Amino acid sequence: MSVAIITGSAGLIGSESVRFFASKFDTIIGIDNNMREYFFGKESSTRWNRSRLEMEIPNYKHYNADIRDYNALEEIFKEYNTDIDLIIHSAAQPSHDWAAREPLTDFQINATGTLNLLELTRQYNQKAVFIFTSTNKVYGDNPNFLPLAEQETRWEIEENHPYFKDGIDEKISLDNTKHSVFGASKAAADIMVQEYGKYFQMNTGVFRGGCLTGPNHSGAQLHGFLAYLMKCAITQTPYTVLGYKGKQVRDNIHSWDLVNMFWHFYQQPKQGEVYNAGGGRFSNCSMLEGINYCEQITGNKMNYTYSETNRIGDHIWYISDMTKFKKDYPEWSWKYNLEDILSQMFIEIKNRL
Ligand SMILES: NC(=O)c1ccc[n+]([C@@H]2O[C@H](COP(=O)([O-])OP(=O)(O)OC[C@H]3O[C@@H](n4cnc5c(N)ncnc54)[C@H](O)[C@@H]3O)[C@@H](O)[C@H]2O)c1
Repeated sequence: MSVAIITGSAGLIGSESVRFFASKFDTIIGIDNNMREYFFGKESSTRWNRSRLEMEIPNYKHYNADIRDYNALEEIFKEYNTDIDLIIHSAAQPSHDWAAREPLTDFQINATGTLNLLELTRQYNQKAVFIFTSTNKVYGDNPNFLPLAEQETRWEIEENHPYFKDGIDEKISLDNTKHSVFGASKAAADIMVQEYGKYFQMNTGVFRGGCLTGPNHSGAQLHGFLAYLMKCAITQTPYTVLGYKGKQVRDNIHSWDLVNMFWHFYQQPKQGEVYNAGGGRFSNCSMLEGINYCEQITGNKMNYTYSETNRIGDHIWYISDMTKFKKDYPEWSWKYNLEDILSQMFIEIKNRL
């Protein structure tokens, strides 16, 4: 029997992983205790997504366990033991703003929770592939010190800079930077995942996400910006743009494209390897450009205001360089660009309202 364990299985990346891998494994074990509702309120509950998976995926089995609870996790690992071939760890406290409210909770989930899963993988099937969804916040605000130039609708890196062509690569420093409490807890986990690869020779991969997005995101003001922006555009909810003249740039990768990266890594795993994972030059937008897209797709004028105060440590310009992953896995490429993502979101969010 082949088993894949997916943590955060009712969230955006977890649920996409469940659907993607359901036909590739005999059993998919999902672990998610809907803590997203605790972080961001009822509107961000992922219960709807869990129910949908339980209804639509016959080989899906859900556990309402908390990844901070080593004993509860061990029961699951004990049951499936050496049948476990793949662990996709996507459960997290995902917001850097929220982390500052409860640093202990944030660290226990993001750092200790990850260590719990790594150690159980080592105890029960050291040969399994372990995939971790890290974040570009491990680089802290270092990207904000790149030479940027203001354009009409966005900030852009200067043309003669090596990052201009493809974006920011994995060599940018993790040190001497303001990570945010969230970035620091994810960096602790990120390094542990690398260490289990290098020290214990386990098949571990770290994927440092830019903006991970898609129609199944339970978008909230503090997390999931594109989904939340689209929701506000549809419902005419007031939206506040925070700082940088609304010209801050993010690259956006569809959750399917990210999970397809996991699939390529699973088939030819490496030990403790790190990859940036984003939309790159293929799929990115500034806040103002995102608003413009949402207005075009929904036909609604967005009701937004501007506040000078940016979120602490927020990136001004971030585009992921995907060259390293594409070199190691040349058959992978993006399937969905920004327009595809937003059009899918429009349909899905309208249906869910
Ligand atoms: N979405 C993004 O823009 C983005 C960007 C970079 C990195 N990431 C990372 O990618 C991963 C997935 O993000 P997402 O957007 O799918 O988040 P999400 O919030 O949609 O999904 C995470 C899921 O984990 C669950 N969860 C949280 N704490 C838990 C706990 N203690 N025990 C069990 N389940 C718990 C939540 O209920 C939620 O359903 C996270 O690690 C996040 O840090 C996301």
